[in-house]
This record gives sequence, structure tokens and C-alpha cells, in this order.
Amino acid sequence: MRILSGVQPSGRPHLGNFFGAMRQFVSLQNEGEALYFIADLHALTSVRDGRELSQSSRDVALDYLALGLDPKKAVLFLQSAVPEVTELFWYLTALTPMGLLERGHSYKDKVARGIAADAGLFTYPVLMAADILLYGSDLVPVGKDQVQHLEMTRDIAVKFNAAFVPGYDPADPEGAKSGKPGILKLPKAYVQEGAAASVPGVDGQKMSKSYGNTIELVADDAATKKRIMGIKSDSTPMESPKDPESTPIFALLSLFASDTERAEIEESFRTGGKGYGHYKQRLHELFMETLGPARERRRRLTEDPAYLDDVLAAGAKKAREIAAPVMDAVRHAVGTGRRTG
Ligand code: TYM
Repeated sequence: MRILSGVQPSGRPHLGNFFGAMRQFVSLQNEGEALYFIADLHALTSVRDGRELSQSSRDVALDYLALGLDPKKAVLFLQSAVPEVTELFWYLTALTPMGLLERGHSYKDKVARGIAADAGLFTYPVLMAADILLYGSDLVPVGKDQVQHLEMTRDIAVKFNAAFVPGYDPADPEGAKSGKPGILKLPKAYVQEGAAASVPGVDGQKMSKSYGNTIELVADDAATKKRIMGIKSDSTPMESPKDPESTPIFALLSLFASDTERAEIEESFRTGGKGYGHYKQRLHELFMETLGPARERRRRLTEDPAYLDDVLAAGAKKAREIAAPVMDAVRHAVGTGRRTG
């Protein structure tokens, strides 16, 4: 089984990235051949400072390693280090219907807010499809916000296979009956259940870099504490019962707490007697217990930049090897592949 996913380096990874995706990256590295990348090309749709992009790409790579990604088990690389992905992006763009992209959430949101969208934002899902299809991925661990992109990826793969693979039947997209699975393999999304699928930010909306409501995984201790103590709550007095849904505190706590503690906290919210500050303190403790070791590893990794260079170079080489046969088949099918002999 081939597992693949990526994170944009358009800011530092946060609790949404962790519970929605990165924690699964680490556990899945033992389940199959795992490839994880830093989506620097995607980040160009919002970052317009070369030095910043290159620095934050390295930062995200270090975060992956600090969280427990083992380069002996998983392939870690920069998206831009595999130029084949932009080539495949073009072959896919050539047959992607405008209507499919017009239904894209990020594009639609931007247009609805009256912001002019660039072509890069519009075609973002096609580059993401190229990321996934280039490596013949089976399983893609992501948060709920990426599920639509996975559906688009499957649609685009079917379009490509139907256009270029003789005998391919779009009604039998995996080739179960026809024995013709196509050149591009259809991936599946792997999404967590409950709050982890869409982690709330400090203001209660979905945690997102673009909303400025994140709790970063490796910010300095004082900033982390300030962020957690600043989570939105209301003015219900300490002794009164509290609705666990009225603040993101309970949802965030339940991501970290054991089942028993989660039930106790919920009961205590409903009974009253404790102020929000108490629950925030407990969240801070649990955050530090869970992420403390990664934060410590992160500090040590920063001291050895050459190690990261080696990991990324080896990762890019391996990723290109995995991509090569898919790319060969694609080029031959579309007619750009050189014939030998
Ligand atoms: P990005 O960088 O926005 O987020 C990385 C991963 O974190 C998940 N995530 C969340 N999960 C739960 N709750 C949240 N509040 C939350 N915020 C973010 C995202 O769902 C994602 O899994 N387009 C992708 C990057 C990408 C990619 C790919 C992913 C590019 N190519 C190919 C998978 C496969 C993105 O912007 O993720």
C-alpha cells in the first residue's frame, strides 16, 4: 500500500494539521510505503517572498521529523524537487473541465468574498491531483477540508484513463470487472472521525492559518500559553453549568484527553463549579505532555542543518524513482514519450 500526503509551508504547522493529518502520517509510516512532502509549489498561491518560502519549507520539514517521521521508513521531500509533478499537472489540466474547478471550495470562497482569484488558486486542485497520482498513491491521510480535493483527484484520474487507456471503462473505474484499471490509480482519502477531522481554532471557527486562529505546535512556551489562555469563552460564572459546545475548549481538550478524562470534563462542564481558566490550564498541561518531546527534538534538529539537507536529497531521489514508471506510461499514452528502438 502506498500512502501519500503533504502540508503547505505557508505558516507553521498547528493543532489542526497535527490531529487532522500529521499524527496519522507518523502512525501510517509503519503500514506501507509512505511518502510525505512539503507543498512549496502550492504555497506560492499565497506566499510571495522567496526567502520566506524557502525558510518555512525547511521549518515544516523539521517539524515532520520532530513529530516522529522516520526517514528510514518514510520518504520526505520537497514537492518542487520532483519537477515531473508540474509536467503531469499540465497533462491533467488539459482535460480537467472548468466546471469541476468552479465548484472548488477555496476558489468559490475567495470569489464570494469579492477577492480576485489567480489562475494558480483556480487550478490548485489539479496540482494536488498530480501530487497524488504521480506516485500511484492508494491512501491519502487528510483533514475534512481536503476531502473535496480527493474527490476531484479521482474524477480527474477517471477522465485521464478514459481518454488515453483503450478499453478503460469509467463505470468500472478501478477495473474490477474489465481488468483494465487505467494508468492513473484512484486514491482514497483517510479522514479521522470526530473533532480531529476539523479541529476548531481559538475563536471556534475551523483552525486555519488564513483565519489567524491557530495554536502552533512548536511556538515558544510563552506564546503557546498565551494562545491557549486566550481561547474564546463566554462570561458564564464559575459556579454555573456550562455548555461544552459553547467554546472550543472542550473540543480541543477532548482531542488530548483519555476517554475517562473526557467524560469527567464533560460532566464537570454540565455541573458547574469550575471556571474556564481551569479547563484552559488543563489543556495547556495536556498540550505540553503530548508535544513536549517533539518540541525538544525540534530544538536539537535545528542544530544540524546538514542532516536535513541529506534527508531531503535522499527523499527527492527516491520520490523521482517511484514517479518514473508512472510518468513513462503517461508520456507514452499522451504522445510525448520518446520511442526507443
Ligand atoms: P494544509 O497545509 O492546509 O493542511 C495540511 C493538513 O492538515 C489538515 N488540516 C486540518 N485538519 C483538521 N482540522 C483542521 N482545522 C485542519 N487544518 C488543516 C489538512 O486537511 C491537511 O490534511 N492542499 C493541502 C496540501 C496538499 C496535499 C497534496 C495534501 C498539497 N498536495 C496532496 C494531500 C495530498 C493543504 O493545503 O493542506
